[in-house]
Amino acid sequence: MDNVIKLLKAHRSIREYLNRPVSQKLLESLIEAGQCAATSSFIQACTVIQVSNQETRQKLCEYSAGQVYVANAPVFLVFCVDMNRHRLSCDMHDAPMLSGYTEQFLTAALDCALFAQNVLVGAEAMGLGGCYIGAIRNHIAEVDKLLGLPELVCPVFGLCLGYPAQNPEIKPRLPLSVVFKQESYDDSSDAALIRDYDQTIREYYRTRSGSNKDDSWSVRISSMLAKEARPHMLPYLKSKGYLLK
Ligand SMILES: Cc1cc2nc3c(=O)[nH]c(=O)nc-3n(C[C@H](O)[C@H](O)[C@H](O)COP(=O)(O)O)c2cc1C
Repeated sequence: MDNVIKLLKAHRSIREYLNRPVSQKLLESLIEAGQCAATSSFIQACTVIQVSNQETRQKLCEYSAGQVYVANAPVFLVFCVDMNRHRLSCDMHDAPMLSGYTEQFLTAALDCALFAQNVLVGAEAMGLGGCYIGAIRNHIAEVDKLLGLPELVCPVFGLCLGYPAQNPEIKPRLPLSVVFKQESYDDSSDAALIRDYDQTIREYYRTRSGSNKDDSWSVRISSMLAKEARPHMLPYLKSKGYLLK
């Protein structure tokens, strides 16, 4: 198998790190690799903020449900949708900027995801491991304030990086035919396939070192979706100039 495909299929989130620094030169090269991701209409609407200050890291950890790796990973990055520089560009040409479109937020968020995944895959290729942190959105307004973000700049997720101090098993994904359809959407076999997959995941949790979970994928999803999903996000994004139309 091609080495890149092998690397991609070997991904696991890494949440424990060696006490070994990541060189800033390597990190800069990874961020440059992130910048090389495709970007909708060449918009380049992602900004990455590296947070090294320990007090700030501690606060980010508290805002992210106390996930300790947010405070202690060798590197912590915050990925932000950013259309601030687009406003500057419009100003440079005395051109009005029509902002506030849901489409613009979606475009910028896609840019962030593609940028970040290049960073993570690049990091994994260099022997590092990482874990995304969506939990920074638990207290997004506080994170925003802590990082001094202007209008049109919003944190969407964090990323911990470092040399792995753990070797977790690869988490099995859904069967291919559930996520890869031909010509049109046919979900007639999905329920049965999900039931089989539940068994695989139950087994994964049962055998995974240090885990005593006995739930399946669909159980986890159904309990997650029984809860509200960060309802503060809409008013926050509106207050930053997004999702207004
Ligand atoms: C946008 C995003 C946000 C995530 N947020 C968190 C998080 O806050 N904490 C955490 O431990 N893992 C987080 N994860 C990691 C997922 O839990 C993980 O990718 C998923 O369970 C699959 O496991 P794997 O990455 O080991 O294959 C996040 C992943 C993504 C893509």
